[in-house]
Amino acid sequence: MTSADGYGDSTRCVSSVGSAHSPGQPMQLGPVFAAPYQLSEDEGSESDTYARASNPGWRGLEAALGILEGADHVVVTGSGMSAVTVTLRSLLQAGDTVVVPSDGYYQVRRYAEEALALLGIGVREVSTTGMGDASFAELLSGLPGRVVVVAETPSNPMLDVVDLRALAVVCHRVGAILVVDNTTPTPLGQRPLELGADVVVASGTKALSGHSDLLMGYIATSDADIAAKVERERLLSGTVLGPFETWLAHRSLGTAGLRFGRHCDNAQALADMLSGHPAVMSVRYPGLHTDPSYVVASEQMHRFGGLVSIELESAAAFHSFVSASELVTSATSFGGIHTTADRRARWGDQVSEGFVRISCGIEDTEDLLTDIQRALGGLTSGR
Ligand SMILES: Cc1ncc(COP(=O)(O)O)c(C=O)c1O
Repeated sequence: MTSADGYGDSTRCVSSVGSAHSPGQPMQLGPVFAAPYQLSEDEGSESDTYARASNPGWRGLEAALGILEGADHVVVTGSGMSAVTVTLRSLLQAGDTVVVPSDGYYQVRRYAEEALALLGIGVREVSTTGMGDASFAELLSGLPGRVVVVAETPSNPMLDVVDLRALAVVCHRVGAILVVDNTTPTPLGQRPLELGADVVVASGTKALSGHSDLLMGYIATSDADIAAKVERERLLSGTVLGPFETWLAHRSLGTAGLRFGRHCDNAQALADMLSGHPAVMSVRYPGLHTDPSYVVASEQMHRFGGLVSIELESAAAFHSFVSASELVTSATSFGGIHTTADRRARWGDQVSEGFVRISCGIEDTEDLLTDIQRALGGLTSGR
């Protein structure tokens, strides 16, 4: 820091505000680099000229995410949706085609239909399991322009799984780019780039940051051309992550392994308990031996994740269950430390009225199972 000796009050005040990044400094508040001390004298340098282009806070978080995803390049964005939109806007133009999951996160479909279609980009919807069918290769080879396939596995909310190794081969055979939304498993549960995907997009809003207190997204790739395109799109579209979220997300990664491990243990125990429960008509969890996703999931996932989807009899049964439970809260996000449940029909997902996606928190497993068992007991006791 500049010595403040001999300066007037205002100069001393300005000088007292640190400008250098020192080791251990808890938060980079992302100055806009308007002050001369931040701008490199090398006028050819593109680094740290303006916070929307790059800044030390992002680079720390991006390096950490690169380690977790096994990616050479990571670009952080302001939300999971902006990771998706930045990627698709940078890879597609009029005459190209995007294939989106018909059963994945619904706002990705909406963006494709409402925004990309208007730009002259063709939109096709295919289910997650459909992307693993033999007929998918045939469909891909007939699509016009450059083709980008967005897969989401396990899909939100059905938790269907597609074989990413096989899908990458099918896509690459026709020159299509495979983008995988890795939100539900996080890189601790699955690393799509190692399985052949070209790009990972994800919402870090969920289990990765894990405290339901920030929105963030990221794009991970080892393809330098794609990385340059998405970085440019982030710069020009301004879909950036704020400094506080950057710091908070990076700080939260330290406990992600512990938290995610408990999410997964709780989800497995809950799925086991609910299978065959009289109040539960069906259970989906990729880690259940009887689940249609199990064989492929055990080949490509390191952990099966913290989400369990169940079917109750009706919307009323869901409301009774949540109000009888002490530990389960009704909420639409997932991946937080608290166990939450979301009745997906309210958002228009093509599921039954009683379909519920449960996001297991990090409570003690026994406490969670006891509470849910008791809350569900109320649904069957009157029968
Ligand atoms: C699979 C998936 N992708 C993307 C998103 C969007 O993430 P965000 O809410 O951080 O924009 C979500 C949000 O729930 C999601 O579930």
